[in-house]
Amino acid sequence: MLRILLIFAAVILPMSVFIFMGKNQEARELVIPPGIELTDAEKEGKILFKQKGCQTCHSIFGTRGGYGPILDRVAKVRDEKYLHKWLFDPKSVRKTAKMPRIKLEHAEIDKLIAFLQWVNMVNEEVDKIEKKEQEQKKG
Ligand code: HEC
Repeated sequence: MLRILLIFAAVILPMSVFIFMGKNQEARELVIPPGIELTDAEKEGKILFKQKGCQTCHSIFGTRGGYGPILDRVAKVRDEKYLHKWLFDPKSVRKTAKMPRIKLEHAEIDKLIAFLQWVNMVNEEVDKIEKKEQEQKKG
């Protein structure tokens, strides 16, 4: 129960603040809810996500990329093997891919995938909290 409350405080509150600031240009910065620990690989993946420009095209936690799809839950529908192939060269997966090939080392790709999996995990935790809240409302 305490864990749920902590996740709520750490995730939902900053997220609502962030959505509220959504109209502000500066809010484009990728914001990771504080209080949720990332492993080293996930942390490096988060840095790479910014450094390699993923963030300019893709949205995570409500940041607005705009050009590419929202990646909040991509790790749920795509497995590691698929993601690795895609990130190494999108056109090797789909000839018509619009995403450019970004020069990445295999180790960097693994870190990006770890980060995307972490993002999906956070979103699933939020889903659970929301579901619980809805059930409580129903009584
Ligand atoms: C210039 C814009 C752009 C950049 C930069 C970019 N992407 Fe994409 N990405 C796209 C578009 C557009 C798609 C949708 C599929 C396509 O290419 O047609 C996509 C799709 C994806 C997918 C989903 C693939 C699938 O088939 O489900 C993943 C995962 C992804 N991008 C991750 C990344 C990561 C990680 C980075 C940074 C290393 C990145 N993207 C950088 C534009 C971009």
